[in-house]
Amino acid sequence: MTADDPTRPPTRRRTASVTACPDGPLLVRGDVELVDDRGNPVDRHRATVALCRCGSSAIKPYCDGTHKAIGFEAP
Ligand code: FES
Repeated sequence: MTADDPTRPPTRRRTASVTACPDGPLLVRGDVELVDDRGNPVDRHRATVALCRCGSSAIKPYCDGTHKAIGFEAP
């Protein structure tokens, strides 16, 4: 296990990563701060968060799974 291993707990990882899920959200792992459109911090409840990229989530900026229901497609 390396320091940048995505399976390593975030507190022990040096870098953050963003992974685009096919036809789904962006998975953000690691030590990053999420902010809203005004620069205010957004609560982050988990070490890995799924950010909506289909635009249809009811809990933006997080993914709520709606992308599946609307047939969102993205590589
Ligand atoms: S990507 Fe999942 S609800 Fe938008």
